[in-house]
Amino acid sequence: MSKPFIADHPLIQHKLTLLRDKNTGAKEFRELVAEIAMLLCYEATRDLPLKEVEIETPMAFAKTKVISGRKLAFVPILRAGIGMVDGVLEMVPAAKVGHIGLYRDHVTCQPVEYYCKLPSDIHEREVIVLDPMLATGGSAIDAIRMIKEKGVTNIKFMCIIAAPEGLNALVEAHPDVQVFCAALDEKLNENKYIIPGLGDAGDRIFGTK
Ligand code: PRP
Ligand code: URA
Repeated sequence: MSKPFIADHPLIQHKLTLLRDKNTGAKEFRELVAEIAMLLCYEATRDLPLKEVEIETPMAFAKTKVISGRKLAFVPILRAGIGMVDGVLEMVPAAKVGHIGLYRDHVTCQPVEYYCKLPSDIHEREVIVLDPMLATGGSAIDAIRMIKEKGVTNIKFMCIIAAPEGLNALVEAHPDVQVFCAALDEKLNENKYIIPGLGDAGDRIFGTK
């Protein structure tokens, strides 16, 4: 089992406070989601392999390093995961992007699949799944199952806020998938929303409520 990474960086904590605030409007909310995703991406890509190359600086020849081999794909879970894509692509512009559409049924809180479009060579890639919220874990567990069914063996999950219930469920269902998050919150409420959380991430990103 991979140990979850829970960020304690001051920049992430500061931005997360602004994100949680109910008075933060959609424009700033979107910017903060992208910025936090970019900072988490820095941690989630820490183990990318390097190879040595020789280049010429204006001053001398130098042996230096570039990322080698492993190709990345990001897969946001629609809708709210879309908000994280620009931030991670700032860090890894050559990555491919797939999309998985899942929404939580309002009564059962179970994920319902409505879309799946993944890069054709996804089985050759390391995949980072993106969703700001890990609540019960149902959406993340299903999305990762769908990606594994395409033959992908190297998957990470990146979220902004996780609930203990969702984190435990995800680790149990997919112990090989490392989770990267900006905060581990207290609990879920009776409607399976994260407390204190930030409310409905999709609605706040897209201004739909
Ligand atoms: C939210 C969130 C996750 C899911 C988390 O999406 O973005 O995908 O809920 O909940 P879970 O861990 O209990 O599955 P939602 O279903 O509200 O859809 P949306 O992004 O389209 O608003
Ligand atoms: N989805 C959200 O957007 N927020 C929560 O707190 C739980 C699920």
